[in-house]
Amino acid sequence: TPRVFSGIKPSGGLQLGNYLGAIKRFVGMQGTMETIYCVVDLHAITVWQDPKDLANGTREVAAGYLAAGLDPAKSILFNQSRVSGHAELGWIFNCVARVGWMNRMTQFKDKAGSNAEKVSLGLYAYPSLMAADILLYHATHVPVGEDQKQHVELTRDIAAKFNHDYGIDFFPLTEPVIDGPATRVMNLRDGTKKMSKSGDSDMERINMLDDADTIAKKFKKAKTDAEPLPETVEGLKTRPEARNLVDIYAALDDTTPEAVIAQYPGAGWGTFKPALADLAVAKLAPISQDMARFMADPAEIDRILAQGADKARAIAQPVLQRTYDIVGLLRG
Ligand code: TYM
Repeated sequence: TPRVFSGIKPSGGLQLGNYLGAIKRFVGMQGTMETIYCVVDLHAITVWQDPKDLANGTREVAAGYLAAGLDPAKSILFNQSRVSGHAELGWIFNCVARVGWMNRMTQFKDKAGSNAEKVSLGLYAYPSLMAADILLYHATHVPVGEDQKQHVELTRDIAAKFNHDYGIDFFPLTEPVIDGPATRVMNLRDGTKKMSKSGDSDMERINMLDDADTIAKKFKKAKTDAEPLPETVEGLKTRPEARNLVDIYAALDDTTPEAVIAQYPGAGWGTFKPALADLAVAKLAPISQDMARFMADPAEIDRILAQGADKARAIAQPVLQRTYDIVGLLRG
């Protein structure tokens, strides 16, 4: 049966890339298939997290899920550490995956930089835990942004090696789902870098909890070239900043970059940026207000996550038991 799984790390707050590249697309898949969306707190601690910030961050991502339209009656929403099977299957996959595979992970190389000796062992094994997240539910579809593609491909490699080593067709080969105009939202000050929660300047990203004035200001100050918008999307090819703003507009408005260009052919930035700022405020302000409302009641969020975890565990438990049997681990 087709099943969707995806997750977001509760570190440093949600930004527009998480919303357009992930959450908004999670909402779009809800109702079409069984959908499981996780707050991956065990992944967050691969780099140091202040305990209070981690707990708040977990609730913030959950609030983002709920405010954007994920419904606990239609999707399973939970935090990873509540279902111990993630860590258990993650260990087994640590014994399936090869060190050489991990060495090829571009995200690890970026995060470790020249400091690879000093990062946590967890950061190195991160993709193996991610494979466990996905395969614990036998998920077939994983909606993610472009930056997670290599990790989902590694998940297929781990599934294939497990199946091969144990001579059984057990884990499915999962497909990354990377579609729509905003699978790689770029930094507003540098169109060659992706938008992230950890950039140096707050002006380079839109945070989901930014107020309307801040959102408008950030779009109006976004870096661009001096040319007006082109007449066709081909004209955006060598213009990363312009391309990014058109893509963001398209994603917010549920349309295509082609349609946005057709709506504003040859427009100057003095016209397009305020239009984008207005659209962004219209779409994001209700979500951030709802997030704040959910976050004002942490007990309710915790209750939703705990109930979601019970449902997740019910799916995970038989898969984990079967995995232990296949490997020859005595339990139960
Ligand atoms: P994370 O927490 O960095 O990001 C969560 C999701 O948001 C997407 N995203 C973006 N999309 C477009 N443009 C951007 N600038 C942008 N920034 C972030 C990410 O691609 C991701 O889909 N390893 C994952 C979390 C994870 C996971 C999983 C995902 C753990 N286990 C299992 C899927 C399935 C991560 O760090 O995402």
